[in-house]
This record gives sequence, C-alpha cells and structure tokens, in this order.
Amino acid sequence: MIFEQVANGGCQSYLIGCGDTCAGALIDPEVRKIDRYRALAAQHGVRIQYIIDTHTHADHFSASKQLSEALGVPVVAHRLSPAPYVDLRVDEGDVIKVGNIRLTVLHTPGHTRDSMSLVASDRVFTGDALLIGATGRTDLPSGDPEELYDSLFGKILKLDPGMRIYPAHIYKGASCSTIEEELRSNPRLQKRERGEFVEMMRTLSLSMPEHLTEALRVNMSGGVSVAQLLAEAAAEVPFMSMEEVKTRIGAGANDFIVLDVRERDAFDGGHIPTAHHLPRGILELKVNEALPDPTVRIVTYCEFGKISTLAAATLRRMGFTRAVALDGGMKAWKEKGFPVEPQTQA
Ligand SMILES: [Fe+2]
Repeated sequence: MIFEQVANGGCQSYLIGCGDTCAGALIDPEVRKIDRYRALAAQHGVRIQYIIDTHTHADHFSASKQLSEALGVPVVAHRLSPAPYVDLRVDEGDVIKVGNIRLTVLHTPGHTRDSMSLVASDRVFTGDALLIGATGRTDLPSGDPEELYDSLFGKILKLDPGMRIYPAHIYKGASCSTIEEELRSNPRLQKRERGEFVEMMRTLSLSMPEHLTEALRVNMSGGVSVAQLLAEAAAEVPFMSMEEVKTRIGAGANDFIVLDVRERDAFDGGHIPTAHHLPRGILELKVNEALPDPTVRIVTYCEFGKISTLAAATLRRMGFTRAVALDGGMKAWKEKGFPVEPQTQA
C-alpha cells in the first residue's frame, strides 16, 4: 500500500494508494496542505479517487469540498454528516474500494455523531475516536461519552490486536500505534467499566479548540473561512510595494490614485499623502462618484493589508482592471517612517 501521513500541527491526514491500480484516497485533508497532497499523489503516480472525512472536524478546516471540486471526485462521509457537499454517504459495514485496497466503515460515534473509522487489512484510521494515548473528546457538538464507550470497547478495540491505528490527531509522541499497545498503555482505556469511563470523559476539563465556531461553520456548510476568503482575493490582485508607492506620490503622477479604504477616524488620524478616502463599507455604493475613470491605476490600502486586498479584488471585478493593493498597511507604512498627512506635531 502506498501510504503517506501528512501532519499539520497535531492534525493528521493520510494519502493511501493501491500500487497495482494507481487508485488513491485522501483521508481527513486540511486546507493548508492541499498542494502538499496533490504533490504527493503525483510523486507516487496515484490518482485520488475519494476524499474521505472521518467526521465533522471542529478544530481545523476540511479541504474536502475544495479538493473534490478541483479533482472531480466524491467526498465520502458517514450518512449522519451534516455537510451538504458530501457526495457519497456511507454506513456501518460499507466497503470503499480504492483499487485493490478495501476500507470497511465502522460507525464509531462519541466524539461526534458522524464519526467513522476505516478498517483496512492491517490498519485502521480511527478519526478522533481512538487517539494514541488518548481518546477523542466528547464535549463538543454531538459528542456523547456513552457512545464513545460503545465505539471503543464494542468495536475498535475488538479488532485484531496487531492492527496499526492512525488517528486524525496526534498531540505528542509516536505517529502510529497498535490496538494492543493502546489497550496496554492508553490511560483512558484503563477505565474499562462503562460508568467509570463515562464519568472520566464528563469530568475532563479541556480548553476549547481555536477557531471552533468558524471550523464548524465551514465544515458543516461548505462555506469558506476568513483566511480562505482573503487568500482567494489575494490570488486575484497584484500588489505594490510601499517604496514604489512612496516614489510615485513623490513624482506627482496624475494617473495614479492612492485609495484609503479605512473608516473616517483612521483616515483623519493620519493617511498617505494624496490619498483619496473611500471606506470599504461603502465602496461599491460610492465608486461611481469617487472613481469616474476606470483606466486609472489605483492602489488600495488599509491598516494591515487585508481589507485593502478585498477592496482591490472588488474594484477589479467592477472593471477597474489596474487596481492593486498595497503590500503592507498603514501600520507598516508608519513604522518605516514614510510620510503621513496630516503631519503630527513633535
Ligand atoms: Fe475531531
């Protein structure tokens, strides 16, 4: 089996492939690693045929929808997944054929209602049901410690003891383990009586994952994260360096507009000399009066360089085909000691 484990922080994704047929599948892909997965698949001569999410992730952004669209292949998830973009909904006992590799679905709820583990001949992808030295938490939306108990002790831990386990998260230590090893050393699995296990899970006090609400929104709806929105806008516009802008305003070019898209208070508090002011919030509504010439070169800027990127992308879409964004923002401009109007009194 072709096998690659890709870590992104603690999150783990897996590319598996059948050497005989060149068929592949990606398990739990994350948005920041999209190019890495595609490069690995190419390197192994594998065509990804399925994108599989073991469950609805609350702590990272699934790349499933994007990859499915880019590659023209289905997203696979358990039938209880709330995500509307799932193409192939699977259930307990279903088999996903990846060339000659067979992945059998075990419904293993508890961390989430839609959690599933995928059993191959010598390994099991456990999602966040069974982790190395831990278990998935049960205090996030649709989690249930009673269900996790049944999933672990009634299903996963009954698999062949020599089976290797590959979870969706690894917080420390080894990158894989076995059922046998976990039964022996995983502290959470030492509570083998249902009541004790459930009580332990209920009393773990774990901090909430970063980006919880945003990750759930994106993963449950197929929408985009703020970072994705900014990255998409950044891909649509060129940038101009602060030095270049400074030189151009010094030269007094009259076909060049510096456009401050911050709010009024920020503009009045200090802006780039010659800048026009048009806040991002009313950009579309006021653009006809503020920018009558669509052929002019426009450089947008804001405080940190993010809103200005969105503004430049909007302007390009509206026909200002020479709009660019400042590479940086007012904060960086001031830090460079570049000129600001009105000049502050020393
Ligand atoms: Fe999870």
